[in-house]
Amino acid sequence: MSPRIDKHLTDSDLAAALARDVRAGLPSTPKELPPKYFYDARGSELFEEITRLPEYYPTRAERSILEARSAEIAKVSGADTLVELGSGSSSKTRLLLDGMRATGTLKRYIPVDVSDSALLDAVGLLAEEYPSIELHGVVADFEHHLEQLPQEGTRLLAFLGGTIGNLAPAERAAFLASVREQLSPSDSFLLGTDLVKPRERLVAAYDDAAGVTAEFNRNVLHVINRELSADFDVSAFAHVAVWDESAEWIEMRLRTSTAQSVRIAALDLEVSFAAGEEMRTEISAKFRREGVEAELAAAGFALTSWWTDAPGDFALSLATP
Ligand code: AVJ
Repeated sequence: MSPRIDKHLTDSDLAAALARDVRAGLPSTPKELPPKYFYDARGSELFEEITRLPEYYPTRAERSILEARSAEIAKVSGADTLVELGSGSSSKTRLLLDGMRATGTLKRYIPVDVSDSALLDAVGLLAEEYPSIELHGVVADFEHHLEQLPQEGTRLLAFLGGTIGNLAPAERAAFLASVREQLSPSDSFLLGTDLVKPRERLVAAYDDAAGVTAEFNRNVLHVINRELSADFDVSAFAHVAVWDESAEWIEMRLRTSTAQSVRIAALDLEVSFAAGEEMRTEISAKFRREGVEAELAAAGFALTSWWTDAPGDFALSLATP
């Protein structure tokens, strides 16, 4: 079947969102940028490289859970449609699709991503590997276009990778509530969460020895330089990763070694940085079972299964509305 792609988000929507977020986040104290702008072509490549680093365990841990449990996930959910939010390269998707195919239920796959190039690539490959299923890609922002998701079939809505940890607690609550609102009683929700563990491993995962995460972090400045005609002196910024013990999240920051005044021509904005000033670029929250269960419950979900990898580094939750 030939794939269909719905586009709810254009390049100019993305450009407008970047302009809005930069205008809001850079003049504020402390300075802050949302993590979603890391992922241009170069940033997506760097993230793929991060997933292969020895220190970055979440991708491998989540894959090992999916390898062990995808047949069970398929059976328990009874889904014929996999909807994946933030599907990216769809590399872990095959495990879920194979589980559903083995159970005999698989009818369609609906990847949802902000990047239409990633979506087209993924859908092109999957069309060859799964010739008998319906492919229906959706270009959308998972925080804003949930109500436009296709309603076909009995759906398993998957949000993998621990990306929910990029949202602040209030945003998480709003996101989970709107996911819950979109689902029918027979649908289910599969959520990947990275788990709290000793500081040393967490910090190493976000500050690797090869410096790939540092490049990934600085990439957001290249994106702003290019998209908004800014003149960040990118090489003056050092990568910082700290574990916030009380919030239980990793914070990534960029710290400029020298004072600099940055002109963002497209916004007609001038922003000054003091020497040593830090700007927050990402939070990546880590979870405990009680917290995930409580957040799901607050959104109206019941947790039906909780699976971790053998060392207990990462969890997959299956929940029903
Ligand atoms: C893609 C959001 C799951 O938070 O671990 C990796 C992004 N940032 N290294 C994460 C990321 C730094 C990643 N997620």
